[in-house]
Amino acid sequence: MNKGQVSLRGKNILGLENMLASEMELVLDTAKEMKHIIDRDIKKVPTLRGKSIINLFFEPSTRTRTSFELAGKYLGADVVNITTSASSVVKGESLRDTLMTVEAMGVDVIVMRHEAEGAAQYASNTVSPIIINAGDGAHEHPTQGLLDMFTIRQYKGRIEGLKVAIVGDILHSRVARSNIWGLKKMGAEIHVAGPQTLLPRFLDQAGIHVHNRVEDALDEADVVNVLRIQLERQKKGLFPSAREYARIFGINQARLALAKPDALIMHPGPMNRGLEIAPDVAYSEKSAIQEQVKNGLAVRMALLYLVLMGGKNIETTA
Ligand code: CP
Repeated sequence: MNKGQVSLRGKNILGLENMLASEMELVLDTAKEMKHIIDRDIKKVPTLRGKSIINLFFEPSTRTRTSFELAGKYLGADVVNITTSASSVVKGESLRDTLMTVEAMGVDVIVMRHEAEGAAQYASNTVSPIIINAGDGAHEHPTQGLLDMFTIRQYKGRIEGLKVAIVGDILHSRVARSNIWGLKKMGAEIHVAGPQTLLPRFLDQAGIHVHNRVEDALDEADVVNVLRIQLERQKKGLFPSAREYARIFGINQARLALAKPDALIMHPGPMNRGLEIAPDVAYSEKSAIQEQVKNGLAVRMALLYLVLMGGKNIETTA
């Protein structure tokens, strides 16, 4: 299938492990067009008028939930947010019944974040609306992977052949998994580093370079993607202390000097400043962290457009 024939219309977006490189390229190309809409004074276009989107978040979120809400609204859709702490979930309603209740209201897309790995897949097997995975446990966060690739392409002009270092809590990170599957398909050379206890076993089979010394991953890297230490998912101490982690694995200016002089610094947020990343690195001119947030909006607009409307021309006037 050539690129012109690729379509995501009606497809669930569950992860990047099973997404084609041509599908990812379609999202990235479409997101570039969407970014022009974000930069306008009047951002609203009628492309998705009459479509409805539910944000169903069982875990906290600032960036993903808000950007999906704005993405839908900028494209003219009706968007409703369900925060589970204020829903009938607290009365004991099951995931299945919650999904079926939303389905009965005739929504077109459910954007779902859930603490259980496979929850988005379960939702796609259970109800008929299109499911977009906004993060399922430590499994995948496909829209974060896509926005990270979009950001790399924006700054570097390509992904193929770049050395990308992914540093930190890989074990608990759905961002790491989506980055790894996506970047591999796009031809990047991936190096990961972190404490042995935070490096999952699948890495050995995934054809990526695994390091215990962060310095080895950073050496001549084009991109450094720093992951949040997910203290809330750690049931037992997996490293001696925060101070020890920052000393051995934290990305500071001295370590960053090992990467290429024009290396790009990324972080999916939210950050533990002073733990996995030093403040002067996070806010340095090499940092793309704020741009990642903006790009997240463009990528989510592109995805909503593509799953609901396919590859037709974008209607960009109000
Ligand atoms: N990166 C990310 O998923 O951030 P939120 O948890 O704020 O959505």
